[in-house]
Amino acid sequence: MISQFGRLPPSVLALLLQLAAFVLAVLTVRLIGLQLAPLFYALLCGTLAAALSRFAGLARWWLFIQFAFAPALVLVLALDIPPAFFLAAFLVMLVVYWSTFRTQVPLYLSSNKVWQALEATLPANQPFTLIDLGSGIGGVLTHLAQTHPHGRFHGVEAAPLPFLWSWLRTRFGGFRNCSVHWGSLWNSDLSQYDVVFAYLSPVPMEDLWNKARQEMRPGSLFISNTFAVPDHPPQETIPVEDLHHSTLYLWRM
Ligand SMILES: C[S@@+](CC[C@H](N)C(=O)[O-])C[C@H]1O[C@@H](n2cnc3c(N)ncnc32)[C@H](O)[C@@H]1O
Repeated sequence: MISQFGRLPPSVLALLLQLAAFVLAVLTVRLIGLQLAPLFYALLCGTLAAALSRFAGLARWWLFIQFAFAPALVLVLALDIPPAFFLAAFLVMLVVYWSTFRTQVPLYLSSNKVWQALEATLPANQPFTLIDLGSGIGGVLTHLAQTHPHGRFHGVEAAPLPFLWSWLRTRFGGFRNCSVHWGSLWNSDLSQYDVVFAYLSPVPMEDLWNKARQEMRPGSLFISNTFAVPDHPPQETIPVEDLHHSTLYLWRM
């Protein structure tokens, strides 16, 4: 049961378990013949959802979300907030996070100290090409484009608003050696680049490693911020003294 569930993205699984908990709660209450106030109903749903989530193997921090979801829904509905507010909040989240529910790679940004540590890994004077896989709002690219004017920098970003932001930034910010495009990193041809940089999450690292091994040219450099590749120790690690204690992992292909 757990292995079949394991194929679904956690957020989709969590939603299905909420629905299952709701059905179970309705059946239980009918069977016993109880009359419950909405908040108690929601607490029952939450308890069942958390129990089912534990059984389905969701990570621990999901259990709290699963427990609190239905009660929070009842409490927020009582506030009588106009529905347009929720639609607007949903649309903002959608354009910022897009397919994060599936990719499990949300938007968060490399620190300035990571940008500076990256500078030292790049060729000092000769031309080179670099791609940032999941380039966010373009901070890595625009910084390095300034410090390394002889390099060419490219970004690929799937989420619409970060992409638009980075496109405007590179297009109108005077960055002639920097470009971004809207799309999936899985469609990028990594053989075009001397340096491939990624700051993603633990989830795609194994697949990304396989893609890098297949496509990157011998001698090119693969750099991951914070997330290592299981069973493939890097040739070099660079600890960065920033708020998150980031580490750069480097592999020469
Ligand atoms: C952790 S952020 C890193 C942003 C930037 N590279 C940096 O270091 O500041 C990861 C970014 O990857 C994007 N992303 C996730 N999956 C993607 C995919 N399959 N294709 C392109 N971008 C993706 C997310 O939308 C997010 O903006």
